[in-house]
Amino acid sequence: MMDKSSSTQRYHTRIAGTGSYLPEKLLTNKDLEKLVDTDDQWIRERTGISSRHMASDEEATSDLALRASQIALREAGLDAKDLDMILVATVSPDMVMPNTACLLQQKLGAPDCMALDISAACTGFVYGISIADQFIQTGHSKNILLVGAEVLHRFVDYTDRNTCILFGDGAGACVLQRTQEGQDSTVYSTHLHADGGISHLFTLPGGGTALPFSQKVLDERLHYVRMNGREIFKHAVRTMSKACDEALTANNMSPEEVNWIIPHQANVRIMEAVAKHFGVSMDKVLNEIEDMANISAATVIVAMDRAIRDGRIQRGHNLLLTAFGAGITSGSALLKY
Ligand code: ACO
Repeated sequence: MMDKSSSTQRYHTRIAGTGSYLPEKLLTNKDLEKLVDTDDQWIRERTGISSRHMASDEEATSDLALRASQIALREAGLDAKDLDMILVATVSPDMVMPNTACLLQQKLGAPDCMALDISAACTGFVYGISIADQFIQTGHSKNILLVGAEVLHRFVDYTDRNTCILFGDGAGACVLQRTQEGQDSTVYSTHLHADGGISHLFTLPGGGTALPFSQKVLDERLHYVRMNGREIFKHAVRTMSKACDEALTANNMSPEEVNWIIPHQANVRIMEAVAKHFGVSMDKVLNEIEDMANISAATVIVAMDRAIRDGRIQRGHNLLLTAFGAGITSGSALLKY
């Protein structure tokens, strides 16, 4: 646990600005009916999803990240040259190397600053808040750009109805900044976990060093995601509830004092189960899944940015962010916006 009240750091971290970008093209449940044996009603009832955004053939992850980052920088009143660090949380990088953060740095015209990808699947953005917070607490950085960006559809098998209904593309970004005097927004604490013992539940087995690209990888479709959805569902509810419990306990806060729970948007039934765990109504849970689906590391920040844009989230609100993802990674971040 990274808890401010028990450490000696000098600085606090705030969210200075956010932005998001979802590609124009939509893939609807009706479109999927033509590809696999599924139907619109099943998908909506079991997941809450009606459509998902898809990047164009010309767009890579760094292109989506760029669009979201430009908005976040503008909202923060900053220029790319003000950045001390760029973090990109993604499981769908442009390429194995260089990392997507370096490609984004070049596209933004940002100066020589640290640029790092975070690979923690759907928990990547929450991991990123924690990493950025540590660098700001210690005085290393003042302005950090944290992006969650994915073009997942290139790793999804559109002959597998278990997975292809779930995922979409998009990017969200935020500028995390050293809190100045007179500002009361802050990251209270972050709580991160991983359980590699159940990593087999969600994998993309082919194309890495364990199973390099080969005709066999292509023939057996091992370059696409594989998932045990039912098992992941159980772990998702358990791990997100636990990480949120930890955040509330560490800050001596009750669920009633939280204005918004912002969970990873994987399945509306997972979000409902987390709300039930806390005895709060779904009115307190940001649910944006219907048209955006699961965008892995981008979901939490895209959902949050949409609610900031339309005024549901206001300065001074307490936000409880939580996510789980392949690994199985999980975590939470409690902050005052
Ligand atoms: N359309 C119609 N029927 C389907 C579909 C589909 N798209 N997919 C599965 N089914 C069938 C199954 O084959 C099964 O049929 P059977 O009973 O004859 O075997 C039946 O529907 C029920 O299947 P379940 O797997 O029990 O369905 P469930 O209610 O669990 O819903 C789902 C499946 C939506 C995948 C759910 O388990 C889920 O959301 N799990 C979490 C997945 C997740 O979040 N993954 C990503 C995590 S990590 C990250 O975000 C990167």
